Amino acid sequence: MAQQKKLQSRVCEILEIDRPIVLAGMGGASSPALAAAVSNAGGLGVLGAAACGPRQLREWIRQTREMTDKPFGVDTLLPASVRRASYDDREGPTPADLLPERQAFAEEFMRKEGIDPLEARSRQRGPDDDEPALFTKEFFEAQMEVIIQERVPVYASGLGNPGPWMSELRANGTKVMAVVGAVRHAIQVKSSGLDIIVAQGHDGGGHNSPVGTMALIPQVVDAVGDTPVLGAGGISDGRGVAAALMLGAEGVWVGSAFLASEEANIFDFQKQAIVDATEEGTSVSRTVTGKPARIIRSKWTEHWLREDVEPLPMPYQGMISGPVMAAANRDGRGDINPGFAGQGIGMIKAVRPAKEIFDELVFGAEQALAGTTNLLG
Ligand SMILES: Cc1cc2nc3c(=O)[nH]c(=O)nc-3n(C[C@H](O)[C@H](O)[C@H](O)COP(=O)(O)O)c2cc1C
Repeated sequence: MAQQKKLQSRVCEILEIDRPIVLAGMGGASSPALAAAVSNAGGLGVLGAAACGPRQLREWIRQTREMTDKPFGVDTLLPASVRRASYDDREGPTPADLLPERQAFAEEFMRKEGIDPLEARSRQRGPDDDEPALFTKEFFEAQMEVIIQERVPVYASGLGNPGPWMSELRANGTKVMAVVGAVRHAIQVKSSGLDIIVAQGHDGGGHNSPVGTMALIPQVVDAVGDTPVLGAGGISDGRGVAAALMLGAEGVWVGSAFLASEEANIFDFQKQAIVDATEEGTSVSRTVTGKPARIIRSKWTEHWLREDVEPLPMPYQGMISGPVMAAANRDGRGDINPGFAGQGIGMIKAVRPAKEIFDELVFGAEQALAGTTNLLG
C-alpha cells in the first residue's frame, strides 16, 4: 500500500513542530489555552499578546508553559508610527488636539445605543495603572523586555520590524518572525536576518494589507529568496492551506478559523457572530485601533462611515474606541463589538475544539494536495 505523505516543510525544522500550521497571534483571543492546544496538536501556538501589559504578558507565558512542553510563540506589535514622534509634528491640529472632540463623538454614540458613557470610561483604568499606557512606545518596549527575559521559543512582530531586538532574541535562541503586507516590508524585515516571514493579505482579519492574499504570497516568496514564508489571510480550511503552499509558502499563519474554537479567548457572542457571518460580513476600518483592520461590520464601524468622521491614528483611536468596546463587552453587544475577523469566516459553521480545527486543516490540505495530481492529463 502506498504510504500516505505528510504535510511537512522546512518551517517544521526551524520551529521544531510536526506540521507547518501556525496559530496567528490574535490580540487577546490567542490565549494560553488556545496557543497550548495548537502546539499540543502539532503546530505552533502563538500568544496574541499585543494588548498585554508586561505583567500579564509574563503571566501568559508562564501559563502556556504549564499547558504545553512544545514550542510556542508570542506576538506583539511594533508600529513604526508610534516609535516615531513625527505624527505630532505635522501642521494643523494634532491627533491629541482632536481627541476630546472624537471622544465626545463616541460618547454621543454610546448614549444613542443606551450605553452609560461614564461607567464605560471608568472601566478604562484597571489594576495595571502603574504600567505604561496601552500602545505607546514605552508599552511596546516593556513588552519586548519581558519577551527577552522569558526566553520565549518564538517571537512574532505583527506590525513593524523586530530588527532593534534581533541580537538579544538571537542570543536567547528565540526564532523570529514578522508579519508583512507588502514586498517592500518583506525586504525590510529580511534585512534584519529573521527566520520566517508571514505574508498576510487583504483577506485576513485584523491589521491588514491592501494587497490580496493570492497576489501577495508569490510576490513575497520571490522577493525574499530562501527565507521561508508563511501565507496568511482568509485561509480557513485545508484547501486554503494547500493553495498557500502552491503559491510558494512553506506553511500558514491562521487566525479566524481558530477564533471559533472552544479555547479562543473571545466572548461567546463574538464566536456566534463568526458562525453567523457570510463572506461579505467584514470590512476594513480604522475605527478600533487607528490602523486599517478587517473587522466584522458593526454599528460602531458603520456609524463613523455614515457620519463621515475620520478616525484618529494609533494610539489615539484606541483611547476613543476602548471604552465603547469595553461597555459593549459588558452588555453582550455583538452588534457593537463582534470583533476582528477575516473573509474566510463564511466557511465557519460551528464552534469546535482547536485540535479538531487543526486536524481538519492538515487533513484537508493533504487531500487537496493529493488531488492536484488528477489535474494533469
Ligand atoms: C481577532 C483578531 C485579532 C488580531 N490581532 C492581531 C494582533 O494582535 N497582532 C497581529 O500580529 N495580528 C493580529 N491579527 C491578525 C492575525 O495575526 C492574522 O494575520 C490574521 O488573522 C490572518 O487572517 P485570517 O484571520 O483570515 O486567518 C488579528 C486577527 C484577528 C482575527
